[in-house]
Amino acid sequence: MLGFISFNPTYGSPRLSLELMEPTPDPVTIRFVDAAGVLVTQALAERGSRLIDLVRALTRDGELALSWRCAQGTCGACVVYLGSDGDGSGDEGGQVELPAIERNVLVRRELLPVDAPRWQIDSPTLPRLACHVRCTADLFVYI
Ligand code: FES
Repeated sequence: MLGFISFNPTYGSPRLSLELMEPTPDPVTIRFVDAAGVLVTQALAERGSRLIDLVRALTRDGELALSWRCAQGTCGACVVYLGSDGDGSGDEGGQVELPAIERNVLVRRELLPVDAPRWQIDSPTLPRLACHVRCTADLFVYI
């Protein structure tokens, strides 16, 4: 199942729900894996959707214990590590351009050095913020 944004007047802000939404025609599979390499949960996400939106839905429903606060990419709470093949070998190999805000937040949190470039090697050792990650392909998310 996939999440969608709905309005809940009890909370006065948009809320995410995992109910009632049909899978999109071309979803991607997002697998969340803990530090011991154990699969915590997995879900389908709309291709191109923000990872933080899935994180919010899964945490709200008690399926995932992952910190997040702002959901706007500025607080730095939603740190994750990504892998496309799930073996943690770092052989994803390509480069990824971090948005300037993400890079700056990661530096502020001392997860990247002060002189870190925006272009980084795409590897499971690279810290990312779920707020800045798009679900463009199947992903392993190490939490
Ligand atoms: S929740 Fe604040 S940066 Fe993602």
